Amino acid sequence: MHVHLKKSVAHATPIVVLDRASFQALAPKMPKATRNWLATVGFVGAPDTYALLPGDDGKLKKVFAGVHSAQHPFALSALPQALPVGKYHLSDEGLSVPTEQAALSWELGSYLFDLYKPRKREAATLVLPPGLNTERGLALATAINATRDLVNTPAEHMGPEELAQAAELVAKHHGGKFKQIVGDALLKHNFPAIHAVGRAASRAPRLIELTWGKPGHPLLSLVGKGVCFDSGGLDIKGADGMRQMKKDMGGAANALGLATMIMTLKLPVRLQVLIPAVENAISGNAYRPGDVIKSRKGLHIEIGNTDAEGRVVLADALAYAAEHKPELIIDLATLTGAARVALGAQLPALFTRFMDTGRELVDLGLKQDDPLWHMPLWAPYQEGIASSIGDIVNTGRNALAGAINAALFLEHFVPQQQDWLHIDLFAWNDQARPGRPVGGEAQTLRTLLVYLEERFAN
Ligand code: BES
Ligand code: ZN
Ligand code: ZN
Repeated sequence: MHVHLKKSVAHATPIVVLDRASFQALAPKMPKATRNWLATVGFVGAPDTYALLPGDDGKLKKVFAGVHSAQHPFALSALPQALPVGKYHLSDEGLSVPTEQAALSWELGSYLFDLYKPRKREAATLVLPPGLNTERGLALATAINATRDLVNTPAEHMGPEELAQAAELVAKHHGGKFKQIVGDALLKHNFPAIHAVGRAASRAPRLIELTWGKPGHPLLSLVGKGVCFDSGGLDIKGADGMRQMKKDMGGAANALGLATMIMTLKLPVRLQVLIPAVENAISGNAYRPGDVIKSRKGLHIEIGNTDAEGRVVLADALAYAAEHKPELIIDLATLTGAARVALGAQLPALFTRFMDTGRELVDLGLKQDDPLWHMPLWAPYQEGIASSIGDIVNTGRNALAGAINAALFLEHFVPQQQDWLHIDLFAWNDQARPGRPVGGEAQTLRTLLVYLEERFAN
């Protein structure tokens, strides 16, 4: 942790946070030497810039930091790995950054995936006053950084078993329960679709289940796509398409991240987290294009393409989730390339049967700087995934509307009266921004948390 909770800020260097406007207002009141120095180094309060101010003794006296806005979740993220190692605190001069955003942005800015390559330097430390808001910021950041670690860990070290261990650790840490159904036991317990997709891998497929919460509280179900590596199966991917497929368990990582937030902040819900964890691999017993698989729900799935494996494993997990009749099911999945073509890396696609929920979540996402965008469950396209020899095909009739086809496929496994959100996400930064290095990413979790708090907290 690079945020320290302390009342005393002795021996910590003050950081003056400014945007362009507040810089202009403050500059005339600064000592001439300071004003000249900031002009010399070109500091004007631009977002994600900073200037070090030395004292007469040549030691660091003060830091000026520019922000887009003091409330931004990444307000201070450019600082922890740029400022000299040491302790800092937020000055009373300049803008006041709410302690939640301060803690959150500092911890996110301290993040580095250092499992194999040690840090070149420690991140700087921010001293913040203890309190509920600071703790909330830290709770969010901890969950987000843990999500990133899960996605960043290569498939060799994050197979179905390791993903299960990670879920078990999360469960134990918060007093939840952990269970898994592994390998051929999936057939016995009627999860044939999960088994079919995962059976060719040397690492056994499984359904991971984490439960938590008090009996009287409403049930919330989180379902995460846990494809630990997606080779495409017999419909093998090309080199470029396969390169990042360690991240195909990004939905599972995000589901665990959201569960961690919920449990840390003790939301009054009962949680059921379900992760179908498989490796989509190739060997003699791999499932094939043209196969028809009977799913848990009884629907026969025709395999149009073994690379559309996510929706097949989610079919069984969603059917199982719905059997418990939760208040709400949220599934998170790196489901389609088509969602990325439509919306790019930064905007997960949201599917819901309710237009007003879609609008509400889009607005909330913009407000939280953790966006997602509403796309339609366009019923007329159901015809495009109809099967002539089974009930549904896991691919569309043509290459159009790929993300919608996948969502419509999932819809078959969610009863009509069941409240359900489907989020097709990228789980990856393809471009570095302050606090968001290239690599695994948590997406929509802060937005979903606030949505759940508004919906269930009172
Ligand atoms: N995991 C991929 C989707 C994906 C690819 C997500 C790249 C993010 C980045 C998924 O299993 C897949 O391969 N989907 C296919 C489906 C197609 C065969 C119908 C796709 O989207 O191309
Ligand atoms: Zn695939
Ligand atoms: Zn996949």
